[in-house]
Amino acid sequence: MKQYQDLIHLFEVHLKKFNSDLEVKSPSELYQPANYILSLGGKRIRPLLCLIGCDLFGTDPSNALDAALSVELFHNFSLIHDDILDKAPLRRNSATVHHKWNTNIAILSGDALMVKAFQSLELYDADKYKKLNSVLMNTAIEVCEGQQMDMNFEASDLVTTKNYMQMITFKTAVLLGCSLKMGAINANANEKDQSLIYDFGTHLGIAFQLLDDLLDAFAESTEKFGKQVGGDILANKKTFLLLRALELSNDSQKKEINDILSLGENNAKEKIKRMLSVYESLAIKHICQQEADLHTQAAIECLAKIQTDTDKKNKLQQFALDLLNRQI
Ligand code: IPE
Ligand code: IPE
Ligand code: MG
Ligand code: MG
Ligand code: MG
Repeated sequence: MKQYQDLIHLFEVHLKKFNSDLEVKSPSELYQPANYILSLGGKRIRPLLCLIGCDLFGTDPSNALDAALSVELFHNFSLIHDDILDKAPLRRNSATVHHKWNTNIAILSGDALMVKAFQSLELYDADKYKKLNSVLMNTAIEVCEGQQMDMNFEASDLVTTKNYMQMITFKTAVLLGCSLKMGAINANANEKDQSLIYDFGTHLGIAFQLLDDLLDAFAESTEKFGKQVGGDILANKKTFLLLRALELSNDSQKKEINDILSLGENNAKEKIKRMLSVYESLAIKHICQQEADLHTQAAIECLAKIQTDTDKKNKLQQFALDLLNRQI
């Protein structure tokens, strides 16, 4: 991400202004948790992609700052609610909002962030506002659909990797596509390029979520990852790793997986250890990485078709490759 330090800085200054306003708003129970999650940092990938999407088509990225703010606010709203759904204790190396406060506060402060996300688009002129709002709305409803599919899958034995791909496209990938497209809209890019940059972002997002699943199981340490390592295994999440393992396992491995799935949270350490050992025996890490690589390649093919400055395209391509080699 080093190559875009200037854009990240530009965004952080903009966010800081927004976030310091939250500090003094009341009721503080609504705004403090929103301020808290935004202060915890994170990679800021979505706002960065939004600024990159604007710059790629030759427009000063400062024009896209409010769109960048809106996608980061939307993302943080989705994280607060996601952590309730996933019963997650840790986010960005700190307590999740519902753990630090309570679930009601997490629901409401998440709602407030989502409203703020859409409000920050109101600063654009009518024509841009209409376009930006429409892209974000379509994406937002898909994120909800993806999250509901994710919840449904936890309790189902009939999930396939194809179902999983659809689910992660909605819950995660489209927001990356949307961020880039909102940047491109700011730069008045033509419809074809808007659609190509959206597809680039969506493929990148699929690879990104596959890697997130992989790190959830295999990250070196909780400290580095910032989230509870093994959380997906404990929650019987139908991740790509688990679904592929079920598809590739022989009868005795299948029985072992089903035994592990029936272990409760009081056997947390054992559950994680046994599942990792199944994954290792089936080379699932490598298989997941290969699947992510396919989508990275698909993303790069979309980028290649965009007619714009070659240096800027190369820089974005390198960013995509770096993002998918990440450890956090
Ligand atoms: C976390 O997103 C949610 C997923 C889609 C995997 P990020 O990994 O971008 O989270 P932050 O913003 O950097 O904390
Ligand atoms: C997150 O998926 C998707 C959204 C937040 C919409 P995960 O549940 O895998 O994300 P993390 O791992 O908690 O960040
Ligand atoms: Mg989740
Ligand atoms: Mg989660
Ligand atoms: Mg995850």
